[in-house]
Amino acid sequence: MHKRLFLSPPHMTGNEQKYIDEVFQSNYIAPLGAFVDRFEEMVSAYTGAKHALATSSGTAAIHLALRVLGIGEGDIVLASTFTFIGSVAPILYQNATPVFIDSDASWQLDPSLLKKAVAELPKKPKALIVTHLYGQSAAIEEIAAICKEEGIYLIEDAAEALGASYGEKQLGTFGDFGIYSFNGNKILTTSGGGMLVSDNGEWVEKAKFYATQAREDEIHYQHKEYGYNYRMSNVLAAIGVAQMELLSERVAQKRTIFKWYEAAFEEMGISLMPEIDDSYGNRWLTTILLEDGDPTSVIEALDKQNIESRPLWKPMHMQPLFDENLIFDNGVSSALFASGVCLPSGTEMREEDVRRVAQCIREHRV
Ligand SMILES: Cc1ncc(COP(=O)(O)O)c(C=O)c1O
Repeated sequence: MHKRLFLSPPHMTGNEQKYIDEVFQSNYIAPLGAFVDRFEEMVSAYTGAKHALATSSGTAAIHLALRVLGIGEGDIVLASTFTFIGSVAPILYQNATPVFIDSDASWQLDPSLLKKAVAELPKKPKALIVTHLYGQSAAIEEIAAICKEEGIYLIEDAAEALGASYGEKQLGTFGDFGIYSFNGNKILTTSGGGMLVSDNGEWVEKAKFYATQAREDEIHYQHKEYGYNYRMSNVLAAIGVAQMELLSERVAQKRTIFKWYEAAFEEMGISLMPEIDDSYGNRWLTTILLEDGDPTSVIEALDKQNIESRPLWKPMHMQPLFDENLIFDNGVSSALFASGVCLPSGTEMREEDVRRVAQCIREHRV
């Protein structure tokens, strides 16, 4: 039996252990420390965001953004429906109300539905959380322009899209806030963790305050507000620093894997997730659409060959949790969900691995 091919397993660079050893030697096994500062500086420098705050997860980073922006009970927060729950659960943490927006042919949030939502909702939404799905760019310039014109805060969920760009700018830097995730399956991982970025230094300072239990600047523990324990530990940041050193290389590897799949599927008439003009995705996961629309049997066939795959993310408006929530719907994301599959895309894959996956799908279809 072949070695199992996973969707996107961690890929260590070699320096992680070295930096962890440095942390142990300094005995700074704490939240915060020199590696946290260094990790934040590296993400800031790479993305061009003026400020960065390392957090315990991407979900925590989104929560901090909403809290700093003053989103609370009764507020409407618009969000991509075609996303992962971590993108929108923080709206519920703040007792605000999510309203979902469907995708367009790019698979990402449809700007025309965004305009429709803003025009038709009886109350003005306070913020939009737009997801850059599978590491590919949404029409972020257009979306940012709509938000600016309408006075809606923009949070970019770039959890899956670190290292991806639109035009000259990195995803995550178009909005009021951007977030990245370093969960175990992401392009870079710290085993778990996230990063909040913004050009607004005051907001990031405030986010840091909430992320460290909202402790006032006193010698004793003093609180006027409540916060969270949301900071990243120095040990995990050491892993992050080592991972960041190879980000450009990882993006190039993911894009190469995508190209291999594209070539393998060309003659089979299988389509892959598009990339919008002027953008450069990180191709975090290669994702395909099956004409006969039966992801389950393909996923089972791949599993029998020791290959991990997964349906596309089930849209939020199809989740029982959000039965009562509004959706500006055009049927796109539900149709994608019905026929799409995420394929192994780990940066240690070789071309023959990709061919093995494609061959298994080919055999299953005949
Ligand atoms: C689109 C998206 N948003 C948010 C998250 C949440 O990130 P984390 O797992 O670091 O909390 C993830 C991934 O896990 C994600 O894929």
